[in-house]
Amino acid sequence: MNKSNTIAIDMSKHLISIHDFSKEEILNVLSMASRFEENKNSAIFSDKVVASLFFEPSTRTRLSFETAANRLGARVIGFSDVGNTSVTKGETLKDTIKMVSNYADLIVIRHPLEGSARYASEVSSVPVINAGDGANQHPTQTLLDLYSILKTQGKLENLKINLVGDLKYGRTVHSLLQAMSHFSPKFRFTAPKELRMPEEYKEQLRVKGIEFEESENLEDGIEDMDIVYMTRVQRERFTDAIEYERVKNVYSLRRYMIENARPNMKILHPLPRINEIHQDVDCSDHAYYFDQAGNGVYTRMAIVTLLLGIKEF
Ligand code: CP
Repeated sequence: MNKSNTIAIDMSKHLISIHDFSKEEILNVLSMASRFEENKNSAIFSDKVVASLFFEPSTRTRLSFETAANRLGARVIGFSDVGNTSVTKGETLKDTIKMVSNYADLIVIRHPLEGSARYASEVSSVPVINAGDGANQHPTQTLLDLYSILKTQGKLENLKINLVGDLKYGRTVHSLLQAMSHFSPKFRFTAPKELRMPEEYKEQLRVKGIEFEESENLEDGIEDMDIVYMTRVQRERFTDAIEYERVKNVYSLRRYMIENARPNMKILHPLPRINEIHQDVDCSDHAYYFDQAGNGVYTRMAIVTLLLGIKEF
């Protein structure tokens, strides 16, 4: 393992919200992720067990966390189908977490209820990582997004970022907006009126003096952007099926729309996509979403390492 000159910082015990990270802590995670990308197998946790508790479907977050834990030498326990657990018999989240924290050294949890990860951290005796709680937060996605932005742009400061799609329920855009606020961005929010960025997030930007504009037009918001961050309209967050039907196909990014984009412009998407990025975009140099998902492994290796108590790598 390479010895780094990374500064030792005081990470909080849990990672529940991107607000848990200062700018310095974010930069430390990104720097560790870069070193893990250069050292993909670093079996420093052969004595540790990581619990992966997914109460809600996932492909990337679960598999990249489990890959990260395996590449760090840890063993992984857990479930991806709550139907096979005692939750179906009525066991509470509190009891499940208290039990699992007797088995594992670290818990990664995804749950459909907002606030569930925070609650889990309050009853757990081991560190808890929020892998997505309802429409609230997805902080590890944000860190891999930042890593992807840094890798492709060479910097995080003063970038123009267009957030597109479901800005109302999209936990990834909420967390990303808050994290990027450390780096003087200019935002464009592209969404239909039903899925606009909630007022509370816009107020946070106003307080910090960060510029943003809002639009319903996707094609006009590409030419002068550094990052176009597409999101899926999330059927599972809607209580009104008619409202979902009205907005589900609102945007579809096509190859012809990005012909005049800046050379450095990258298209990100937390994935899964449905039809908001047409497949004719996939072979463009601007498409970065599959590489972005790959970056999740290195970023989560860094996060697991920090929460298991190693602050330098
Ligand atoms: N980006 C993301 O959270 O993907 P999954 O739902 O597949 O984990």
